[in-house]
Amino acid sequence: MKGKDGKPAYHPNRGSRVRMLLLFFVSCGLSFYLGKLFCSEKDCYETAETNTITAIDKPTRHKFPKPMDGETSQDKAISFPECGIEFQDYTPCTDPKKFKHYSKHRLSFFERHCPPIYERKECLIPPPEGYKVPIRWPQSKNECWYRNVPYDWINKEKSNQHWLIKEGEKFHFPGGGTMFPDGVSKYVDQMVDLIPQMKDGTIRTAIDTGCGVASWGGDLLDRGILTISLAPRDNHEAQVQFALERGIPAILGIISTQRLPFPSNSFDMAHCSRCLIPWTEFGGIYLLEIHRILRPGGFWVLSGPPVNYQRRWKGWETTIEEQKENFEKLEELLTSMCFKLYNMKDDIAVWQKTSSNACYKTLDNPDTYPPKCDDGTEPDSAWYTPIRPCVVVPTPNLEKIALPTLKKWPERLNVASVRINQILRGSEGAFNYDSTQWKMRVKHYKTLIPALGSHEVRNVMDMNTVYGGFAAALSSDPLWVMNVVSSYAPNTLPVVYDRGLVGTYHDWCEAFSTYPRTYDLLHLDELFSSESHRCEMKHVFLEMDRILRPNGYAIIREDNYFAHDIATLAKRVRWNCRKEDAESGSEKEKIFVCQKKLWFAKI
Ligand SMILES: C[S@@+](CC[C@H](N)C(=O)[O-])C[C@H]1O[C@@H](n2cnc3c(N)ncnc32)[C@H](O)[C@@H]1O
Repeated sequence: MKGKDGKPAYHPNRGSRVRMLLLFFVSCGLSFYLGKLFCSEKDCYETAETNTITAIDKPTRHKFPKPMDGETSQDKAISFPECGIEFQDYTPCTDPKKFKHYSKHRLSFFERHCPPIYERKECLIPPPEGYKVPIRWPQSKNECWYRNVPYDWINKEKSNQHWLIKEGEKFHFPGGGTMFPDGVSKYVDQMVDLIPQMKDGTIRTAIDTGCGVASWGGDLLDRGILTISLAPRDNHEAQVQFALERGIPAILGIISTQRLPFPSNSFDMAHCSRCLIPWTEFGGIYLLEIHRILRPGGFWVLSGPPVNYQRRWKGWETTIEEQKENFEKLEELLTSMCFKLYNMKDDIAVWQKTSSNACYKTLDNPDTYPPKCDDGTEPDSAWYTPIRPCVVVPTPNLEKIALPTLKKWPERLNVASVRINQILRGSEGAFNYDSTQWKMRVKHYKTLIPALGSHEVRNVMDMNTVYGGFAAALSSDPLWVMNVVSSYAPNTLPVVYDRGLVGTYHDWCEAFSTYPRTYDLLHLDELFSSESHRCEMKHVFLEMDRILRPNGYAIIREDNYFAHDIATLAKRVRWNCRKEDAESGSEKEKIFVCQKKLWFAKI
């Protein structure tokens, strides 16, 4: 996102062309010299035009934004054509066409590999032919339009497991899965018997690794548990796309060589039902990552091999000895990371991560495996951070955020956890101020978008959150919020998790780990102001347009300085936008309320 000049429009008659050209080259040269190598043609031109502004300039009060509706010749030069229909489900950082270029080791080719800047698509992603406005929540949990996600692999390959069934124009989701072909609710009931903390508000956040069509996460929503369903873009065609089409929180991802984009000690529960992750291989590296993201006292639930091997081994085409060995290896690994077997019945086994740091003392012995991690990598560093074969030991003060100590949901929503003290300028006072402010702001948003709070808005993303205040203010509405904290911003995501909300780290200079048309509402608070020195605004707009559903909304809360660029880019991505006052009435801060149109590719 490059800043723009904000000065009155350029008049060619007032200055000589020579002087302008000279200024152009001097400014671009200076910009290059200063390391602003990503200065786009447009920004360079504007730099020349004004002779004062550089790409990293932050908005200041003395600049005067151009009027929202007045277009300059440079603005007119920006245009985004339609991408070909073959891009209808384009996920730039996990593009199946590129998989062959990346390593097969630990399925690393399914991890994020974003295109370099010169290969980025600057076109608008069309919806598939016959696309319809998605079915609304809660009906969407049980059915979606076939044409919106027109992929049959799961229907054909998993028909005996009842993940989904195609009937006429719709896919139906009967709630089946590999380990629960007879329905997820019965399966979760069994789990609740093993973990009573699932029904009293103790467990609030969960992650389902290898989620299929996210029926487990969908069922838990009714029980007050908010799950991030995670799976790669693999042969289980469009599984995460189905999940989001259903209105269930989900993200593309894989446990492979890089840490998952979540802070340490955050999820209350992690689940894998036959998720094909080789937990005991590669020195237990996958389990080490689960250990990192689970909060002290958090639960890890496994169903499927090698659990219940005594009864099941025949059906798995293996030997009882082999499965017994696998189970013992798993037990040994988990024990070495300070997990304890908590409960087990039939196909479901539950382990609990220790709440107290005493257990980790055994790792002081240099001969233990896996060893304790040194302090070379921050426990929360999780954006393109390799998984290390060592145990991330929580610091002793994190016992205060252990599951048995933490307030239960919903009380924990309004509590600033101890982790706020690790954030620059973070304090309980700042947290409370933030919460009050977001309540006011959301009340105002509801007057601007009457659909907010209704079943029309289900999948919501707060693209640049601090403490999750926006999501907290919407917590009693029929929606869920993906809270995004920039990988370059202060690390506030642990506080978001501690209050019982979910989210991810992300860098908005890149594409988000999701399919096109997966969010109903995107909310941005000062994203352009805070990151304008790193990436181009047009790329952020194109990415927002990719992930926004047709008829979906964007609320852009920004310095008025960006008004002109926002208006220009919104027009280029074919959105309808209007500029509104902030609830404070401030002249400096404005709210842009935008809606994406439904259009179809010209074939
Ligand atoms: C057999 S399916 C099970 C799906 C679902 N859990 C169920 O019980 O119906 C295996 C799932 O694991 C996912 N998977 C395989 N390897 C994975 C990995 N390393 N990290 C995350 N998910 C993985 C697949 O994409 C798929 O969603």
